Amino acid sequence: MKIGFFDSGMGGLFMMQSCIEEYRNHEYVYVGDTKNLPYGPRDSVEIFELMSPYILWLFNEQKCDYVVLACNTASAQSLDMLIQKYPEYKKRLINIVTLTQSYINSEIKDPQQLLVLATERTVKSEVYQTSNTQQLAMPGLVDLIESGDREASRTTIVDALLHYSGVDYVLLGCTHYADLIKTLSDAYPEITFIAQDSIINIWISKLKDETKNLAPEYYVSGDPYDYEKVFDIPIQRIVLKKPRRNP
Ligand code: DGL
Repeated sequence: MKIGFFDSGMGGLFMMQSCIEEYRNHEYVYVGDTKNLPYGPRDSVEIFELMSPYILWLFNEQKCDYVVLACNTASAQSLDMLIQKYPEYKKRLINIVTLTQSYINSEIKDPQQLLVLATERTVKSEVYQTSNTQQLAMPGLVDLIESGDREASRTTIVDALLHYSGVDYVLLGCTHYADLIKTLSDAYPEITFIAQDSIINIWISKLKDETKNLAPEYYVSGDPYDYEKVFDIPIQRIVLKKPRRNP
């Protein structure tokens, strides 16, 4: 299968890399809208307009069998609009929020023990809110992670968690936060941190086995240079036109 991944930035790459490691038998292509990051503070229509061209490109030009909408914020805010406008892709558009909701329902017995960390928009959308779940928005954290300042990013979450007790699970409900899972687990060994790469792996494990072994491709809408250095992979720049607004 050919699987496309879309995220507002490079956060979804943690997911895709983990799929590549575990399931090399598929073909992968990644697009990050790094030029327009962060999506966290943007409204639904804006996010819909920004992401649509990339999703269409993954399906139509790249001929992906499936496209993973890795971005929680985009899934929570604008997936409905996307499906309404392009219903033909509904079955092949995999959204991380639905997969994560099922994971929470099956794996976490007491929602009171769960704290969800996510962007402002994801928290406001309440997609991860069940009766007792606690949620915390982390404004600015995506920019900090993208800037490569891991120590400041780590401290931001570690300090925030000081205000919570009785939490056994923390869902990293934004793709970018997965970068910090190791250091957070070291700081709070009593808490189980859940990153979404393990969740997408469950989905991908159910796909038909095909042997492809082609090199993955990576695209970003902004400057690829810094990302190439950080991830040590070849990244191409992608320029797509925004669709015109209806008059
Ligand atoms: N990575 C996105 C998510 O999973 C959000 C990052 C952003 O604010 O652009 O929610």
